[in-house]
Amino acid sequence: MARITLDRVSRVYAGGALGVQDISLDVADGEFLVLLGPSGCGKSTTLRLIAGLEEVTSGRISIGDRDVTDLRPRDRNLAVVFQSYALYPTMTVRANIGFGLRMRGMPASEIAARVDQAAALLGLTPYLDRKPAVLSGGQRQRVALGRAIVREPEAFLLDEPLSNLDAQLRAEMRAELVRLHRSLGRTIVHVTHDQVEAMTMGDRICILRAGRIEQVGAPLEVYASPANMFVARFLASPPMNFLPARLEAGAAPALVLAPGVAWPVPPAHAEAWGRAAGRPVMLGLRPEDFHLEPAPGRIACALAVTAVEALGPETIVTGDLVAVPGLASLKARLGRGQVPRPGESLTLHADLTAAHLFDPATEAVIPRPSVPQPVRSA
Ligand SMILES: Nc1ncnc2c1ncn2[C@@H]1O[C@H](COP(=O)(O)OP(=O)(O)O)[C@@H](O)[C@H]1O
Ligand SMILES: [Mg+2]
Repeated sequence: MARITLDRVSRVYAGGALGVQDISLDVADGEFLVLLGPSGCGKSTTLRLIAGLEEVTSGRISIGDRDVTDLRPRDRNLAVVFQSYALYPTMTVRANIGFGLRMRGMPASEIAARVDQAAALLGLTPYLDRKPAVLSGGQRQRVALGRAIVREPEAFLLDEPLSNLDAQLRAEMRAELVRLHRSLGRTIVHVTHDQVEAMTMGDRICILRAGRIEQVGAPLEVYASPANMFVARFLASPPMNFLPARLEAGAAPALVLAPGVAWPVPPAHAEAWGRAAGRPVMLGLRPEDFHLEPAPGRIACALAVTAVEALGPETIVTGDLVAVPGLASLKARLGRGQVPRPGESLTLHADLTAAHLFDPATEAVIPRPSVPQPVRSA
C-alpha cells in the first residue's frame, strides 16, 4: 500500500525562509495527485519532504502503514523524477535505465527483464542500444522515467517533468503519463505550475499558495467550486473576471455594479447569497460565462471591445463594460467563427447562474448550491 499522508507538515529553511506551513494531505493508494501553484509556493519542498530529501521542521509523514518521517530517502522506496534529469551520455539507453539496478547488485537477467518491460511500456524498445545524444527531448524524458519504473517503487514523485519539453511533446507526454499511471497502478504525486496538466492528468489537484494548501479536489470540482479568488484566478486561462458589486436585498435581490446597473440575482442563489446582503461583494464570472446569445436568466451587457484573439476553435475578447466605467477589462470566450472587431460595441449575455460571489476582504467564496456545468454543444 502506498497511501501517502502528510500530517501538519512544516518546513522552515535555514535563515527563516518558509518552504511549507502546516500541510495536511492524504494521497490515496494508486491516486494521481497534482500539486499546482505558482513558482515559490512550496511544490518542490512538499515533494522533497515526501522523498526524504528535505527534513520536516514539524509534522509527520507516513507511507502506507509506516511512519517514514525519520527514514532516509533510500529506505522510503519512492522514485523521484526531476525536470532536469541527467542521463549518462556514454551509456546506451539500456544501460541508463538499468544503471540503478546494477549499482544495487541485482542479477543481470533480472535487470534485463525489468529494462525490457519498462522500455516496452514507454515505447523505447527500438532505442535501447542508442545513446542519449541521438534521442529527442521526449525520448530522453522517457528514459528518465524508465530509470524510475525499473526500481518498482511504491510511488512516483514527479517534479515538473514536462516543463522542458515543447508544447506538442508536452501534450503527448501528458497523455503518456496518464496511460502509464493506469498500467502501473502506482501512486503518483506530480508537481506542475501548468493548469492544463493539472486539469487533465490528476484524479485530484492540490493547489498551494505561499506554502499553504488553498484547496484540494477533483479538477472539475475545483473549477466549478473554487474556494476563493486565488483558486478561481489560478485554475483557468484566461482567469475568472472579478466585478466589484454590492448585494442589495429585498423582494428582488440584485447585484448593483454601478448606479442604475442592477443585475437580478438568480432565484436559485438568492437564499445562499442572502447572507451577504447589504455588503460589498466580488462577482466572479468566467470568460465562458459570457455568451452572444440571450437566454432566460442571462443579463445583457454592452462590451466595448479593445482586443480580439481569434484562436480558431474559440475567440477571446477583451473589453470594457460600457455601463460600468472604471472597471478593469473583462475577458469573454466566444465560440468558433464568433470574431468581433476591436472598437466594436458587443452585446454579451452574462450567465449569473454560473457566477460566484466572493468576500472582497477575505477573498473566500460565499457558498451557493453547485450548478451543473452546461454541456457544450458542438
Ligand atoms: N534550500 C532552500 N533554502 C532556502 N529557501 C528555500 C530553499 N528551497 C526553497 N526555498 C524557499 O521555499 C519556498 C518554496 O520553494 P519551492 O518548494 O522550491 O517552490 P516551488 O517548487 O513551488 O517553486 C520559496 O520561497 C523558496 O525560496
Ligand atoms: Mg519547484
